[in-house]
Amino acid sequence: MRIYDIIRKKRDGKELSDEEITFFVDGYTLGEISDYQASALLMAIFINGMNRRETVDLTMAMARSGDISDLSAVSGAKADKHSTGGVGDKTTLIAAPIAAACGVKVAKMSGRGLGHTGGTIDKLESIAGYKTDLSKDRFIEITNKTGLSIIGQSGNLAPADKKLYALRDVTATIESLPLIVSSILSKKIATGADCMVFDVKAGSGSFCKTTVEAQRLAQELVAVGAYAGKKVTALVTDMDSPLGYAIGNSLEVIEAVEVLSGGGPSDLRLLCVEIAAEMLALCGKGELEQCRGLAQKALTSGQAKKCFVAMVKEHGGDTKILEDTSRFPRALYSYSVKAERGGYITAVDTERLGIASLLLGAGRTKKDDRIDYLAGISLRKKKGDYIEKGAELAVLYASHGNFDEAAEMFVSALTFGDEAPKISPLIIERTYSTFISSQQKPIWNRISQ
Ligand code: URA
Repeated sequence: MRIYDIIRKKRDGKELSDEEITFFVDGYTLGEISDYQASALLMAIFINGMNRRETVDLTMAMARSGDISDLSAVSGAKADKHSTGGVGDKTTLIAAPIAAACGVKVAKMSGRGLGHTGGTIDKLESIAGYKTDLSKDRFIEITNKTGLSIIGQSGNLAPADKKLYALRDVTATIESLPLIVSSILSKKIATGADCMVFDVKAGSGSFCKTTVEAQRLAQELVAVGAYAGKKVTALVTDMDSPLGYAIGNSLEVIEAVEVLSGGGPSDLRLLCVEIAAEMLALCGKGELEQCRGLAQKALTSGQAKKCFVAMVKEHGGDTKILEDTSRFPRALYSYSVKAERGGYITAVDTERLGIASLLLGAGRTKKDDRIDYLAGISLRKKKGDYIEKGAELAVLYASHGNFDEAAEMFVSALTFGDEAPKISPLIIERTYSTFISSQQKPIWNRISQ
């Protein structure tokens, strides 16, 4: 087999076989296929697409390119959740403990933030002492003991994706549905959970800027996940506004603890209950409505918070600050952003808010950048709110004390008008797994080996 022939076949719009796809993924991961040939194939896939079968084979080849986590030592049903990335998205810190409090195990490997979106691992590391790098045995021990454990992704998880994503990033081949689906799902399949809930964000703070793009991604994740033998549900949710009011690592942990303590912003609470309820339903805990009731009870009874605190303790984190969030360290400097005119906030460029937070030091533009856990934005007003001229829109926090660029970016993200805007629903759509017929089973058997 020659990579040249595979490139030519896809260039001419033909379907690649499983063997050809596996040859490409394995060869590129091992360094036997060059960047220029891999780039040519990626561009051919970008232009001519892949059918469902090819996408399944690409996903599985990428999942198999490194370690596949074996969670058989974790007792009971195992669920995972994944967000495609947004601003102020701290749902894992809440939905995972809710699911754990209701008897589902969550052994989760999360990522760091990059660009304008945050990452769960950075948020957890803003809790003093919390270790995100644990041995596999300890990860499983904590999951069995507390119901959940959240660690960083192992170095050898879907290495094909790591290499291919870096190449797509510099060859203008990111925005391809089969490439995005295989990238997201290969990592999730390699982490070993049986049930997965995807939170596919749609809007200005997401990489899917339109609802239609997010719906297509959700449908494809669910369908390809089902062929991979996983139970998958996807929610398409609004990211035209940040979730909650806090953006930035320790600010977001504080807000998550507020929700776990029975308070916090209603949009954040609602979405976390829905994600957790879908995780419970996938794991056989009942019908969705029943699972929603279980999830709400786990929050109001304090059981979800107990699970979160127990996990943080097992990871070596400081739990005193979770019991009293006023003990969380605060940034050295703060800056109040005031409205230059009165009116309704009619639109928010949420990506710009994420960039403002990054400029304050809360994020990184390169993988190895250091971040300031205390930096970020505390919103006072959100889309649809009415504000008087001169009233406070937000408080920016940073340890470097230079707010000019971030404040300018923040202000440029907001549009004001005289009429209240239409607010889209937070949960736009739900997509459930489709039945895999017996004729399709041979494919299923092959890919789930
Ligand atoms: N997130 C991923 O992990 N991969 C993509 O290709 C896009 C978003």
